[in-house]
Amino acid sequence: MHSFNEYLASCQQRIDQQLTQAVTFPDNGATRLHQAMAYSLFNGGKRVRPLLVYAAAHAMGCEQAVADAPAMAVELIHAYSLVHDDLPAMDDDDLRRGKPTCHIAFDEATAILAGDALQAEAFQVLIRAQGLSAAQKIQLLDFLAQGSGALGMAAGQAIDLAAVGQTVDLAYLENMHNHKTGALIKASVLMGACCNAQVSSAQLEALGRYATAIGLAFQVQDDILDVTADTATLGKTQGADAAHNKPTYVSLLGLDGARAKASELHQQALAALQGFDDRAIWLRALADYIIQRAY
Ligand code: IPE
Ligand code: IPE
Ligand code: MG
Ligand code: MG
Ligand code: MG
Repeated sequence: MHSFNEYLASCQQRIDQQLTQAVTFPDNGATRLHQAMAYSLFNGGKRVRPLLVYAAAHAMGCEQAVADAPAMAVELIHAYSLVHDDLPAMDDDDLRRGKPTCHIAFDEATAILAGDALQAEAFQVLIRAQGLSAAQKIQLLDFLAQGSGALGMAAGQAIDLAAVGQTVDLAYLENMHNHKTGALIKASVLMGACCNAQVSSAQLEALGRYATAIGLAFQVQDDILDVTADTATLGKTQGADAAHNKPTYVSLLGLDGARAKASELHQQALAALQGFDDRAIWLRALADYIIQRAY
């Protein structure tokens, strides 16, 4: 039995190896684009979404290898979303994971294209996955498209941008967070579970409740850390939300209120896993990690 820290490190190493193999391109004259993609993928992300895929697959009794492609797919979408999130037209941030953001290190046009191509690669790795049936792949593609598209993450980013400088209420904020962060986290958990073709709709429903709770908790903690952590620890500019007039859980509820919300969501997440056996160990540990993380 590993400790959670060992599990975290081994999954991070595994996903990095997998992505390195998958995202290596022959020279077709677009080397700068390929460099920008690699720059944005291999720069020290926590790999939380791949971890959720692996942990959910583990909870369903799957071999880790079948979860490699969905784990890569969610991280590719996440990497694309961050490249675009940092653009001047969106959050206009120049620091990500302790390094210059993609559009600073390269240029805006290259960053836009890197995001576009990372997104396409996410779907490509699923289509080409080994060890999954065609029916499973369609299910995985469906979850990924839902989690990232017009009713998922992209919608959340639009709702976020519409809120800048506005006074919004908690319901608005929760809807925004559920879309911009929760949707891809939910997709990650459901995709991991689908690596077992026998997964039941009751199991997917319970895992969906778990994922909705930790997805919101993840963004609540992101909002808290924007206030409480320092730039060196975060690897992104501390205080950026307030500087950009972004409504956050901290701006609406205060720090203590935001912390209380995160721990309430943590309890909800664990409760949703009650029907799962010991193999849900890493999903339980990830719920703890998401609200305890320091960056
Ligand atoms: C940051 O995500 C953006 C949000 C959705 C809050 P992460 O905190 O997972 O970022 P990395 O991948 O570890 O850098
Ligand atoms: C980003 O949310 C969410 C997505 C990229 C979809 P934030 O804008 O809060 O993320 P950070 O704080 O820049 O990482
Ligand atoms: Mg943003
Ligand atoms: Mg941002
Ligand atoms: Mg943030």
